[in-house]
Amino acid sequence: PRKIILDCDPGHDDAIALLLAHGNPEIDLVAVTTVAGNQTLEKVTRNAQSVATVIGMRGVPIAAGADRPLVRSQEVAEDIHGESGMEGPRMREATTPVAPMHAVQLIIDTVMSHDPGEITLVPTGALTNIALAARLEPRIIERVREVVLMGGGYHTGNWSAVAEFNIKIDPEAAHIVFGAGWPVTMVGLDLTHQALATPEVAEKIRAVGTEPAEFVLDLFDYFGKAYKENQDFDSPPVHDPCAVAYVIDPAVLTTRKAPVTIELTGTETLGMTVADFRGKPPADCPTQVAVQLDFDRFWGLVTDALERIGEV
Ligand code: BDR
Ligand code: CA
Repeated sequence: PRKIILDCDPGHDDAIALLLAHGNPEIDLVAVTTVAGNQTLEKVTRNAQSVATVIGMRGVPIAAGADRPLVRSQEVAEDIHGESGMEGPRMREATTPVAPMHAVQLIIDTVMSHDPGEITLVPTGALTNIALAARLEPRIIERVREVVLMGGGYHTGNWSAVAEFNIKIDPEAAHIVFGAGWPVTMVGLDLTHQALATPEVAEKIRAVGTEPAEFVLDLFDYFGKAYKENQDFDSPPVHDPCAVAYVIDPAVLTTRKAPVTIELTGTETLGMTVADFRGKPPADCPTQVAVQLDFDRFWGLVTDALERIGEV
């Protein structure tokens, strides 16, 4: 199995990323780290603990990280994820404690204590923790196998016309992560807007018939209403598990190599992920963007993870 650190801000779709990482046998989830984003650090960390309880995830350390972006003032996505950051399902007791160390330290220690090429980083929130880790211990850049992140979009935005939330709220961190030199796969909105939780998808999940499946349906319900109201989506795009799915089975996504830079100074375009598709990408281009989702394969993985988790 592939060893990953999931750096997240649960978040409805982050919760499903956690569930997929925990339930799929091709993934060895070695740590969960949290970062301020969809809600405050305190809330998203509490939500990560709650998800751990629902899905029966034990023995995986959860550590809290950055409580704000590197430079900008904090923004949360309350319109989409609600006051708790994971509004909808009832909150579960936290059975997994939060590790008594900073997420950035846990990321560094985990990467450095594994062989080179063993750990993959899967960020599904702002890139603050990952950027800080790369600055504090630059040797992780060589050592990490790859970074597969949910964020950005080369043709569309959601936090502005051209910028996506995870990148826009901490563009300087994104600049560090995209420019570090390690392989980066950007699973952006162009891809995740294909990962819709349609009524047919919900039916398949309902058929699993367990409490964790109920939990996912409750997430879809709230997320669906929020996306309908705020962005006029008929079904909500379930962004974050797409990044996990790519690590499980790269055939779930088609990707295209392209240099990607982050807009840091635009008045209308701050936080845009600028992908350069002109000509052939340079041979050593470390960045690629996700283009096309295999919808059935993707949702098949999520349903399969729920079936394996069973009743907790
Ligand atoms: C991303 O922003 C967050 O609200 C979601 O959890 C996802 O990571 C989508 O733009
Ligand atoms: Ca997220």
